[in-house]
Amino acid sequence: MAGLWGGRFTKETDDRVFAFNESLSFDKKLYRADITGSVAHATMLGKQGIISKEEMESIISGLNSILADIENGSLEFDPKCEDIHSFVEANLIKRIGDAGKKLHTGRSRNDQVALDMKIYVRNELDTMESLLKELLGVFVKRMEENTETYMPAFTHLQKAQPTNLAHYIGAYVEMFLRDRDRIKDIKKRLNLSPLGAGALCGTTYDLDRDYVAQLLEFDCATYNSMDSVSDRDYLIETLNACAIIMMHLSRFSEELIIWNSNEYRFVEMDDAFSTGSSIMPQKKNPDIAELVRGKTGRVYGSLMSLLTTMKGLPLAYNKDMQEDKEVAFDALDTVKDCLALFTGMFATITFNKDIMAKSAMKGFTNATDAADYLVKKGMPFRDAHSVIGQLVLKCIEKDCSIEELSIDELKELCNMFDEDIYDAISLKTCVERRLTKGAPGAIKESIERYRKLI
Ligand code: ARG
Repeated sequence: MAGLWGGRFTKETDDRVFAFNESLSFDKKLYRADITGSVAHATMLGKQGIISKEEMESIISGLNSILADIENGSLEFDPKCEDIHSFVEANLIKRIGDAGKKLHTGRSRNDQVALDMKIYVRNELDTMESLLKELLGVFVKRMEENTETYMPAFTHLQKAQPTNLAHYIGAYVEMFLRDRDRIKDIKKRLNLSPLGAGALCGTTYDLDRDYVAQLLEFDCATYNSMDSVSDRDYLIETLNACAIIMMHLSRFSEELIIWNSNEYRFVEMDDAFSTGSSIMPQKKNPDIAELVRGKTGRVYGSLMSLLTTMKGLPLAYNKDMQEDKEVAFDALDTVKDCLALFTGMFATITFNKDIMAKSAMKGFTNATDAADYLVKKGMPFRDAHSVIGQLVLKCIEKDCSIEELSIDELKELCNMFDEDIYDAISLKTCVERRLTKGAPGAIKESIERYRKLI
């Protein structure tokens, strides 16, 4: 449709050019944001006397009827329109006639698309925040259920020290709390309205930009019209936040995949969140966790794509920037899906508490505590480290754990050992005596803090 710029042109757009150039096929997602922005623009034009009150009212009711018809399915997007902005405008003119031709007064598609994307993304960030809240709620509930579920904690994926499952989950609570903060922070910088920047250098009409901003719940209007139409920082920040959320989901997914393996059997995924094999009848696969892990790559891709699109772009608007949409929509949809699916999966997972505890008792996870025992009896830590090292070697030879050695065997290596060693290195003691801030013994305080924060 050459309707938008017909005057200057003597030829129709080549079909291939139209298909290459159009964005309606994907920016139709912006219809609600676009109409909301246009209603505010028309309201301001009316208030400023740039259009008459009657024209303003007619435009607003026309726009509202378009919105209603899109939502009830009676108005379909016309593929002959280039983008969502021209679709809505053309439809408005069809509905209300000449008054509709005044809507675009003092506005360009450049500030319009910048506004639409901000409204859309702000809304998506709100949704992501509530999805994070649900996930965090499930995490904290599962923490409360598992303050006495003992398990090994790992470094280098080797058993290191014992902890409780609540402490383990708490590490992820911290990550997703940071994600939630990041989103709040992005919203602060995003929340300035670009509308009224015009094509790039403002306009001679007496627009009240701050009034439009206020109508649309922005803090105020942006401060430089060229930056307003070419800023995609908030979108890059959003994709960055998405990438980090996916990285966190992917790390936990990887852990659950390992814990769900036949060798570990720490967890059992609920049937509703697992899949089977078409050939191997015994299989129950953690596909959801694997897919979440897999989709992380595509969200990283979106971030890299937009960063690369924006690199080296001169001021102000360039058509390259239309490429921001598909990657942003895809990343936002992917993150929302992954957050919701992961929440469902984690809420229904079964923890095999006995297997986790048994695993913590093997692999000398209490070796540090055995060394600390000798330190408390007066031995310097470095010496204690060496004694326990020899002790572990002895246990490996005998294929037993430290607490399975008799007191005589222990004394043979070091006469500072007494009967109280067995209690000092029991799983429960090892975990619950770690009372430093943030340690597993102090998990109840952490849970209380999370409850308040969430
Ligand atoms: N579809 C365009 C985009 O997404 C809208 C802005 C068009 N502006 C222009 N000067 N061609 O960026």
